[in-house]
Amino acid sequence: MTTLFYISLIILSVASAVNSCPPSDRAALLAFKNALHEPYLGIFNSWKGTDCCHNWYGVTCDPESKRVADISLRGESEDPIFQRAKRTGYMTGYISPSICRLTRLSSLIIADWKGISGELPRCFSKLPFLRVLDVVGNSISGYIPADIGRLHRLTVLNLADNLIAGGIPLSLTNLSSLMHLDVRNNRLTGLLPQNFGRLGMLSRALLSRNQISGRIPPSITTIYRLADLDLSMNQISGQIPASLGKMAVLATLNLDFNKLTGPIPATLLNSGISNLNLSSNSLEGILPDVFGPRSYFTVLDLSHNNLKGPIPESFSKASFIGHLDLSHNHLCGAIPLGSPFNHLEASSFAFNDCLCGKPLLPCRH
Ligand SMILES: *[C@@H]1O[C@H](CO)[C@@H](O)[C@H](O)[C@H]1NC(C)=O
Ligand SMILES: *[C@@H]1O[C@H](CO)[C@@H](O)[C@H](O)[C@H]1NC(C)=O
Repeated sequence: MTTLFYISLIILSVASAVNSCPPSDRAALLAFKNALHEPYLGIFNSWKGTDCCHNWYGVTCDPESKRVADISLRGESEDPIFQRAKRTGYMTGYISPSICRLTRLSSLIIADWKGISGELPRCFSKLPFLRVLDVVGNSISGYIPADIGRLHRLTVLNLADNLIAGGIPLSLTNLSSLMHLDVRNNRLTGLLPQNFGRLGMLSRALLSRNQISGRIPPSITTIYRLADLDLSMNQISGQIPASLGKMAVLATLNLDFNKLTGPIPATLLNSGISNLNLSSNSLEGILPDVFGPRSYFTVLDLSHNNLKGPIPESFSKASFIGHLDLSHNHLCGAIPLGSPFNHLEASSFAFNDCLCGKPLLPCRH
């Protein structure tokens, strides 16, 4: 009986040693922690002891393999640590490449710490199980790794609000699982890859506030699931592909503050797009007379372009226009009467050549 008791004790202790995280994963986490400095909340205070799989703040292991699978450290959170400290997070230091020794990592979130700087580790692209890479809201510099396309499981790539420079790697279009791409507010330059349309799972492509140049690759319009395309505040030139207005689920199209020329494609004004901002480009020609019941806009901002001619009669057939801005163009003529206009103010039509009628001054004839 006693022998049996001791045997089960031994089995139990072996089992609990197997249950804790591998020493190599623990060492990688400690090296990662040592490159960071978090002075206000003490989020790393729990990173002690041998078992990094239990009660290490923000660390989760795979229940089968006991390897570290997720790191989730958010500087803006509802967690009690933040409520006690009555502040948001702030961290300095850099993301140590030692994190790439966690070869089973599936999700890496180091978000909104503002002060984390240094370069984006290039070894990220060698983490074969990575599904989520989110380092939004830091001061990270460096480049997107040229071989990022190797991460064929990646679904979320969020590098927004950092100082990342250089081009969009050609290999990016090999990310066949990517659903959410957010690189807003960085220092990216160069062109969008011509074969951007290969990102067949993409539903949000947010690239605003960079210095991306060149044309909008027409292949984008083949991405069936794309709902939100934001290329605003870049240096994009050329014409707007008319096929953007034929996309199945595109609801938000922000191309404002670029160097786009040519006409506004008629397809955009009678499509599923409900949020359309083309402001501050060099678009020209007349407003196509194609508005109809499918024209439903929470935002329609065409201000600061070179549009001329009248506001088309069909405008009053639009089913809804929440916020309209046609100001700072060369439009002329009577503003059509109709329900979409009843709530609009004069500022929606200001700074044109000779628009008249409600809500502007009456036409003189
Ligand atoms: C994309 O993936 C294919 C197949 O794995 C590979 O041959 C190609 O070199 C990759 N493209 C880039 C630009 O890395
Ligand atoms: C449209 O874009 C312009 C220029 O970037 C911006 O100033 C404006 O606020 C945007 N319009 C709306 C309604 O968000």
